[in-house]
Amino acid sequence: MAVTPVQVTGTVLTIRRVDAYHALTVVAPAVADRFRPGHFVTVSTGGPATATLTRRAFAVHDVKPDYGGTVEFVFTVRGAGTSWLAARRARDTLDLVGPLGRPFPLPRDPCRCVLVGSEYGSASLFALADVLQGRGCRIDFVLGAASADRVFGALRARRIGETTTLTTEDGSLGMRGQVADVLAGVIADTRADVVYACGPRDMLRAVTAVAIELDIPAQVSVEEAMACGTGLCMTCVLPVIGDDGVTRMVRACAEGPVFRGERVRFEDVGTIPFDALGAPRGLGGMG
Ligand SMILES: Cc1cc2nc3c(=O)[nH]c(=O)nc-3n(C[C@H](O)[C@H](O)[C@H](O)COP(=O)(O)OP(=O)(O)OC[C@H]3O[C@@H](n4cnc5c(N)ncnc54)[C@H](O)[C@@H]3O)c2cc1C
Ligand code: FES
Repeated sequence: MAVTPVQVTGTVLTIRRVDAYHALTVVAPAVADRFRPGHFVTVSTGGPATATLTRRAFAVHDVKPDYGGTVEFVFTVRGAGTSWLAARRARDTLDLVGPLGRPFPLPRDPCRCVLVGSEYGSASLFALADVLQGRGCRIDFVLGAASADRVFGALRARRIGETTTLTTEDGSLGMRGQVADVLAGVIADTRADVVYACGPRDMLRAVTAVAIELDIPAQVSVEEAMACGTGLCMTCVLPVIGDDGVTRMVRACAEGPVFRGERVRFEDVGTIPFDALGAPRGLGGMG
């Protein structure tokens, strides 16, 4: 269920390096109170004189009750916005909106769940794991990245998961390859009922293909480029098949970012498929 997001000015509690990433914790009780696993926040970056006008989106890694409620997210430095964030220090303030998006749907009954994360995408899986375990679910992790220093959360996964399988593309940790390469084996070994996944689009597409092949549902959290993050601008639309079988261009920030993997037309992302509801006629679709 969607919750009403709030805009707050929060004080940075800590910012620390975690391998290749930065983990930033900000005091934001109103966001922490409303948080469900799978939610994201958007942050204003660059200060008052900035040219980085759009907020930057980050999946929430953790919330804690300290100081009335803190929110932590994990990020990699990409450009101006994340460089600015990485330079924040304790007691600086941040303008934050959240929680945003629809969280991961939770099973009604205890079941066996494989949680699959790639790079910083793994960060959003731990709050989910806690809630699933609280419902009596079995948790197995598959975490991967390009190299060992970019695998997020391996120790914590080993602590809380029944099994943890790690992959790196350069073979520096775990099995050489990508998470989808080992997923079928993990699903078979654990007799999993459902896959939850967060990471780059190609990884989600590959994970979904494995889940379809093995006939289990995959709940995937997509990371489409976003401008407003609140459903107004349509920057983040992607083609998703509805319950009625009709493809619609839906907003990842408002209807997502979590979708049933098999409903997302990954191969058509970035286009408006000709058979999508409301697609331009006579142009042969766009792209
Ligand atoms: C729902 C959602 C959740 C996200 N969660 C996280 C998170 O937990 N941790 C994290 O580090 N990042 C996350 N991101 C991505 C994050 O928003 C971008 O890295 C950030 O906006 C980059 O801002 P910037 O100003 O540093 O870089 P920009 O100057 O905006 O971009 C620098 C370069 O990075 C590329 N880039 C920007 N965004 C992305 C992206 N999403 N994927 C691939 N390339 C991109 C741009 O095309 C450009 O080449 C998330 C994005 C979304 C939509
Ligand atoms: S980012 Fe503006 S509608 Fe999704």
